[in-house]
Amino acid sequence: MSETIFISENSSKTEKYEQLIPQLYYLLSPSDDLIANLANCSAALKEVFNFWWVGFYLVKNQKLILGPFQGPVACTSIDYGKGVCGTCWQKAESIIVPNVDEFPGHIACSSASKSEIVVPIIKNNKVVAVLDIDSEHLTHFDNIDNVNLTKLSLFLSDLF
Ligand code: SME
Repeated sequence: MSETIFISENSSKTEKYEQLIPQLYYLLSPSDDLIANLANCSAALKEVFNFWWVGFYLVKNQKLILGPFQGPVACTSIDYGKGVCGTCWQKAESIIVPNVDEFPGHIACSSASKSEIVVPIIKNNKVVAVLDIDSEHLTHFDNIDNVNLTKLSLFLSDLF
């Protein structure tokens, strides 16, 4: 198992994802603890892309509960249908928010966060968690992020 992530210098965003995701397939394993896997996943995404905040909210007792993350402290619990994360859970689909100030009900954990992407992790047709990534830049996320993070979330669902 490799415990170091290697990304070629001057890689584009697509190339970074193309290099990172196969390494996560090796680094993360269903035989390891879920929290340990999600912690390494959030650390790897933060290291490679230097996102402002990257982490997981896990569905527990009809709420989203803060899981492993990298970045500033964040809210610990989000209700179904609330904020970007709770809406992602409700719709069971990715949400890209180019400007968080324009998303009704956005939950501001950090005033530095300007844009956001939230991707559901779906197991047996149920959302079991969401992957939430925040940027301090407006319109930071696009379909390249969505396609690659969705691919990653399909793999992550096997860890639950
Ligand atoms: N902004 C999110 C809350 C989580 S933090 O960004 C880490 C939301 O509206 O759901």
